[in-house]
This record gives sequence, structure tokens and C-alpha cells, in this order.
Amino acid sequence: MTPFDPSIPSTTESGAPRESDAHSLSVGPDGPLMLHDVALVEKLARFDRERVPERSPHAKGSGAFGELEVTEDVSQYTKADLFQKGRKTPMLARFSTVAGELGSPDTWRDVRGFALKFYTQQGNYDIVGNNTPIFFLRDPMKFPDFIHSQKRTPDSALRDNTMQWDFWSNSPESAHQVTYLMGQRGLPKSWRHMNGYGSHTYLWVNATGEKFWIKYHFHTDQGMEYLSNEEAEKIAGSDAEYHRRDLFDAIARGENPSWTLSVQVIPYEDAKTYRFNIFDLTKTVSHKDYPLIKVGTMTLNKNPKNHFAQIEQAAFSPSNTVPGTGVSPDKMLLGRVFSYPDAQRHRIGTNFNQLPVNQPIVPTNSYDKEGHMEFLHSGDAPVYAPNSYGRSYQDEQGPVDNGWEADGELVRAAYTLHAEDGDFVQPGILVREVFDDAQRTDLVETVSGALSTVQEPVLSKALQYWKNIDQSIGERIEAALGTAAADEQVGGDPRP
Ligand code: HEM
Repeated sequence: MTPFDPSIPSTTESGAPRESDAHSLSVGPDGPLMLHDVALVEKLARFDRERVPERSPHAKGSGAFGELEVTEDVSQYTKADLFQKGRKTPMLARFSTVAGELGSPDTWRDVRGFALKFYTQQGNYDIVGNNTPIFFLRDPMKFPDFIHSQKRTPDSALRDNTMQWDFWSNSPESAHQVTYLMGQRGLPKSWRHMNGYGSHTYLWVNATGEKFWIKYHFHTDQGMEYLSNEEAEKIAGSDAEYHRRDLFDAIARGENPSWTLSVQVIPYEDAKTYRFNIFDLTKTVSHKDYPLIKVGTMTLNKNPKNHFAQIEQAAFSPSNTVPGTGVSPDKMLLGRVFSYPDAQRHRIGTNFNQLPVNQPIVPTNSYDKEGHMEFLHSGDAPVYAPNSYGRSYQDEQGPVDNGWEADGELVRAAYTLHAEDGDFVQPGILVREVFDDAQRTDLVETVSGALSTVQEPVLSKALQYWKNIDQSIGERIEAALGTAAADEQVGGDPRP
């Protein structure tokens, strides 16, 4: 690591003493500037290149370092080192909004990202989840369209409710997540006051090779708390960094937030017969059928020293798995496994895993090499495998430890439906059985507020979508909107 010493006089990047941080080299005090003023040219050139692309989704966020302490014995389900009883594993968390850009307010209604990187003795293990246990989609093919619909229109570059509801009402599988989003979860009081979920079904493998499907739940020990629409709107105007500030200040005060980690464990064979498809990311798996099993506690206790180096350049990815863990046949998860490191090669650079925040704490021996900014390298060791000169390589064959069986014709199709797999079944239960009266009233207010600027033909579709979720909620939203207002709105895009 290059030494940085704030006490020595400032230098150029190549380490030579700098003459001035204030004055350019000119021909006389009033004269033109000199191109060979290395200090000025370097300073301006570096300034010109300070910004890297922001994350495509989840651009606005922040995070902190901490530790996962495993307090329970779950070795019957996984051999992963980080989940063994007594283990304390250093980690990094980053929280975010999904749709807003880098400078957008923290309190706009949105799903919140809950990304975790565990620096384990077997390499990095990342759980890149959200504050909701499900998602809008079940096929990665639709993800870019979904994000486009939540960001900005092509012409005005404005965010647009019609565009958002157009995508959702044409994608009924979004109903469950949209119901969560329009409820309290869409406006957490702070990142400390929200739960996190791995959301997908993941694989665990124990020491004897037995496999289990599992779901991660991080329950906030601070308690779940929310903002009202009015509070969130006011804060968005007065303090766009409200959530970022809250986390940083709390940790600086020594109020270290923590979360209890539990898992739902689903026996491997149950996936075939369970009443929901457990790989369909739009569905939850009942806690009555598969109760939570406690694993340990995650605590955040250290603020970043440098936001850009440690948070902006952090690269989380569901592709980072360790022995004893794995992904699953969830198509969204399989799509994500490709997309994240690909985005990071573009956003940060090919060798992003060599940056201190992304580096595993264990030695690596990878034959991937070179590219921009290579820093860690294999010296003069052979650069190919197999080789005869002693550099280790692997050649395992046969079924993989963390795999599953797959068979069938190549198709483009939705998942196989199970007994209760309709798109509107679980959101209907959420509205009727989980929300209370006050939450239902808030839901009607939030959705009718959002729909008040939505144009036909999308408005009618959106109202039908809500009636499909719950007839009575749909009717209340329609009444709140005022049918006259809805009737007045005529469809069609006037642009040529
Ligand atoms: C096929 C579906 C998806 C695709 C293609 C996708 C793609 C991406 C990409 C490209 C990024 C930016 C990565 C970076 O530049 O570092 C990102 C960030 C993120 N995504 Fe997804 N995503 C998908 C679904 C999901 C789902 C289902 C969740 C949660 C369960 C999720 C949670 C996150 C989070 C939390 C971040 C921010 C990570 C951070 O803090 O750096 N995404 N996603």
C-alpha cells in the first residue's frame, strides 16, 4: 500500500515535492500558464476523472463495517465456515434506494437495498438482498425494463408515475412487491430500523453433503419503524442524506445497530411438492411451514474512513459464494450471478476485486490476469493451467457439491405453477391478513396519490390490478381517486 503521510509537505502523484497548491506557473504574475506545470496539469486531469459511473440501480446509498457472530449451532445444515457456532466474521454492509440517482433523497418511497459482504476464511460471501422478502419479477429478462420504467422518461428526463404503473400493471407478478412497496416498507424511518432479506432461496450444504434450501432473514434489533408520506416528503426537501447521516452519526455515537440473523430451512426434496414454487422470487415461504431458525447477530460498529474507496467502490455480488453455500434454480438469481461482476468490471474496472474493500482476507490463486490497474499478480509463476512447474490448479470432475438436478426441453416459459401460485394470492393475503385497518387506509392514500397523475390507458389497468389484489382495496382506491377525474383522463401519446 502506498504510504500516505498527512504531515509531510504535499507532493505530486509521483512523490516529488510540490511547489504550491494555490498558484499556477505563469509567465510573470499576469502572464499565460505553462503546459509543463505538472502540478496543475495533473491536478486538473485527475479532477476531470474523479467520477466513476454510478451503480445502474441502487446508486444512492451508504454503509458501514461490522461483524457477524454466530451464536447457534447450524452445522447440521451448512459446513460454511462463517456459519459455524462461535465464529466472528468481519463484514461490510451497504444500504441503498433502488431507482434514485446518486444525489437523490434517501426518503423517496422505494425498496431499500441491503447488501452484505462477509470476509470469510473461505473467501468472500455476499448476500445482496433488500428490505423485502420478495421482488417485482421472476425472470431476469425483464429486469432492465423494470428499472427503465422506474427511472426517467426519454424526453423530459422526469420520473413518471404513468410509466411506473404501466410496467407494473402489465406485469402482474409484480403485485406482491408493489403491495409491500406501497405499504410501510416503502418508507423506513432509517436503515437501522428495517429488516433485510436474502429474498431468493439459496442452497446450504452440510459436511456430509446433505443439501437444504434456505432463506435469510435479518431482523432489526432496533425495531421496525417507518415514516409517514408527509414526514418523508418534508425530509426529502430538508435533508436528502437523512438515512446516510442517521447511520453514520449513530455509529459515531457508539450506538451500533444490530440485526438477528435467522434462516428458514426447507428440506431439499420439499421443493418439488411445496404449495408454492420456492424458486419464484415473487413468493414468500410460510413461517408456519418452515419456521425461523436463529443463527446469530450482525452488528455494524465502524464507519467508513473514505466513502469513495470503501463504499462507492465496494462490489457486492450474489456470485460470491463459499463452500457450504450456493445459488439455486431461481432464474433471477442465476441472471444476477452474471450481471453484478459484469457491471463492476465496467463501473470500477476489471481488477475491482483487488481493491482493499473487495479483496478477500485469504490468499487467492487465480489464473485470470492483467487488464487495467493490475496490482496483485502471480509474479513469474506459470500463467496457465495445467502446468508442470508447481503452480497449483484444480481439476475436479463429476457432480458439484452445491448443485442440483435439471432436465427438460429448452423453452422460454414462466415457472411451473404450483397449487396456490397465482400472482394475486399472496398480495391479497398481505393486504387482508397482515396489514391492519390503519395500514390499509394508508395504502389507499398512498396508491391513490401515486395514481392521481397516471394517464389512461394505464390508469384503468392499474385500478384493475388493485381489484385483482383485493376487490375492496381496489374500489377504495378508485373512490379516493374520484371516478370523474379518472374519466377525464384520455389516453394516447400526442408525440409524432
Ligand atoms: C435479474 C435481476 C437483477 C439484476 C440483473 C440486477 C442487477 C444489478 C446491478 C447491475 C447492480 C449494480 C451493481 C454494481 O454496479 O455494483 C445491482 C445492485 C443491487 N441490486 Fe440488483 N439486480 C437484480 C435483482 C435484484 C434483486 C432481486 C435484489 C434483492 C433481492 C437486488 C438487490 C440489489 C442491491 C442491494 C444492489 C446494490 C448493491 C450495493 O450496495 O452495491 N437486485 N443490481
